[in-house]
Amino acid sequence: MDKFVIRGGNPLLGTVRISGAKNAALPAMAAALLTEEPVILENIPQVRDIETERKLLSAMGAEVELGYGRAQHRTTICCRDLVNPEASYELVKTMRASTLVLGPLVARMKSARVSLPGGCAIGARPIDLHIKGLEKLGAKITQEHGYIQASAERLKGARIVFEKITVTGTEDLLMAATLAEGETVLENCAREPEVVDLAVLLNKMGAQVEGAGTQTIRVHGVEKLHGARHRIIPDLIEAGTFIIAGALTGGDLTVTSCDPIHLDALLTKLEDCGVTVHRNGESVRIVGNGPLKCADIITEEYPGFPTDMQAQYMALATQANGTSIITENIFENRFMHALELVRMGANVRIEGSRAVVRGRTALSGAAVQASDLRASASLVIAALVADGETIIDRVYHIDRGYEHIEEKLKGVGAQIRRIGELLPRRMTAPAVAS
Ligand code: EPU
Repeated sequence: MDKFVIRGGNPLLGTVRISGAKNAALPAMAAALLTEEPVILENIPQVRDIETERKLLSAMGAEVELGYGRAQHRTTICCRDLVNPEASYELVKTMRASTLVLGPLVARMKSARVSLPGGCAIGARPIDLHIKGLEKLGAKITQEHGYIQASAERLKGARIVFEKITVTGTEDLLMAATLAEGETVLENCAREPEVVDLAVLLNKMGAQVEGAGTQTIRVHGVEKLHGARHRIIPDLIEAGTFIIAGALTGGDLTVTSCDPIHLDALLTKLEDCGVTVHRNGESVRIVGNGPLKCADIITEEYPGFPTDMQAQYMALATQANGTSIITENIFENRFMHALELVRMGANVRIEGSRAVVRGRTALSGAAVQASDLRASASLVIAALVADGETIIDRVYHIDRGYEHIEEKLKGVGAQIRRIGELLPRRMTAPAVAS
């Protein structure tokens, strides 16, 4: 298993280019299931979850062509000859977003067999709202042997009110509704930029979707969708992660190929912390000048402060003067990184859904363990300001969603290297119960 070895102390200086959004690319790839014609997707990040989705679609009989050379971020997917409308446990257990194929498969193939995802390191994360929504659209759903079996001759438009805002739930039902008979009205929808990006792609494929980015999405079902070419939006979480790293290290970092509007909740909070932020077209420059001030955050659905930035923000809060209260409202168990940050010298107390972070405490390098994608990013950020060397184990989590993160960090001055070999016993990280 790969590890990162990071020596702290260098400010991040220079420019880093942001990749395409993993969480927009995954539903876009699933949307290709809705048509027989090729869908060409550009700005696809080279991360492990994309490879998992490629395997998932290929196992169903889709042709997934990956670009190479200058076209290495382009993927062409053709789902003309689907043979096996199934998402196996083997793949779903490594990536929950695999369940995004459920809606498109029932809508186009009339049936789907998708493994239930099971447990997760950040919360229960059920998919009951996907299932209830598909039932409203007329699908028959049964569950056995850990799989959901869904079928429908043709889905029928309906009014669906989400009891809780769900990102992939909104995306799943949005895709299903494009081929349903009549009109579907989705209410209490997620408003994330990734949902909007999916709707843009679907409309390019001939769907009739209105209102994405608001709480109510209307979909007028059509008989058939066709192929399209689409460029995936920039990854707002990758951008935010570099921005926090730049601010925390007291650097002068410009993050390019991003959308500052998508980052507004984070950038406003960093300004409260005393960081200088320049928003400029498709880039953000941040200058970490002087001591950081503490500020509380509450994670919320977009356009609120993203849960996917909470762990990284906690690393920053450990270095701010005063007490920051971090309230996690989206997932019930998303504080695993706190325990590792404490091992590095942070003062964090967890009280239910709140973390109380008292700063500023000096951090010192230690052997730590990544527990999920964003928790890993938090540890990387903390390591950049820690005294001495930090060894982060289980970096396969970070490889799921950050493209070449160590190359990008090295490019702006960080001392980071990846090692694959076993380390001497005294340097290995202790097991964490989860
Ligand atoms: N929920 C239900 N029932 C459902 C669906 C969701 O109770 O049927 C609950 C969840 O348990 C959670 C809340 O609703 O408490 C919100 O979950 P949501 O469905 O929005 O999460 P998701 O769609 O599974 C996506 C991202 C996550 C991100 C969340 C929240 C993708 C592929 N994943 O997950 O990204 O944290 O939205 O913004 O888009 C990550 O990239 O590291 C990541 C975890």
